[in-house]
Amino acid sequence: MKKKPQIFITRKLPEHILEPFRDKFEIKMWESEDKPVPNNILHNEVEKADGLLCLISERIDRALIDRATNLKIIANMAVGYDNIDVNYATEKGIIVTNTPDVLSETTADLTFSLLMATARRIIEASDYLRENKWENWSPYALAGTDIFGKTIGIVGMGRIGEAVARRAKGFGMKITYHNRNRKPEAEKSLGALYREFDELLTEADYVVSLVPLTGATKYLFDKNVFEKMKSSAIFINVSRGQVVDETALVNALQENQIKAAGLDVFEKEPIQNDHPLLNFDNVVCLPHIGSASVETRTRMLELCMENLDGFFNGSGPVTPIS
Ligand code: DGY
Repeated sequence: MKKKPQIFITRKLPEHILEPFRDKFEIKMWESEDKPVPNNILHNEVEKADGLLCLISERIDRALIDRATNLKIIANMAVGYDNIDVNYATEKGIIVTNTPDVLSETTADLTFSLLMATARRIIEASDYLRENKWENWSPYALAGTDIFGKTIGIVGMGRIGEAVARRAKGFGMKITYHNRNRKPEAEKSLGALYREFDELLTEADYVVSLVPLTGATKYLFDKNVFEKMKSSAIFINVSRGQVVDETALVNALQENQIKAAGLDVFEKEPIQNDHPLLNFDNVVCLPHIGSASVETRTRMLELCMENLDGFFNGSGPVTPIS
């Protein structure tokens, strides 16, 4: 009988995800739901594995790929894949897959929730009650910023960007965007207006970062960029922390160069509670939960398994990136 491909999974997954594939693969996994697999164990496991299902918490770098002499496919449970040295994997003949599309709407929901929570000071207002500070109703107590009628500037108009733009349209916002290439469909159906990056920065009331992390976007949002934004602008980041120079963001907030920020991602994750960005009342911070709905996380895991299955059964991975 033909030997089943060995799959190593870097986190404990629920049985209902694995069950349909048990007869196709020899599955081994790191038996913790919330703690990442230690690097030395991961290195040992990939030596034997034909396929790897990993998360963004794992760095799949040259050293690891060099150990993975049997490895044929890496299924990353994320749309972003900056945790993987894709060029080197490709050079070694290893296919890499990601999970596009299935998370776009959920991530757009979170992006918009974060924008609204930041604009309307939802977390501050909730804390105000918990801290027993509500003594009177006052005209400007906890007054935030309007969303309707304002201009959103979406930087990175991919699938998630377009899903955010659809929500912005529903909220009566003016939609501007910057992207490597123009999006005629979004311009037509959503009335989205293309802007050069600098133009977008000076015009937008909400600057929303949805760019993938690449060599070109690393620290894209730096001192100069924050200086160009309106002092009333709200900055939202739901892409990757490393697209922002966090020191420059802290300074921009301290100097009131921008009004507020909503952040789902950080330069080095996870952050600890002494992180400087947690010191601002006007900054809403979340622990990288853009795609975190049960439905979407389930679909992302299923897609990873389908990618592995497609590769090994010869029909081909569903969503390869290389
Ligand atoms: C992604 O998919 O890239 C997110 O950051 C995790 O859902």
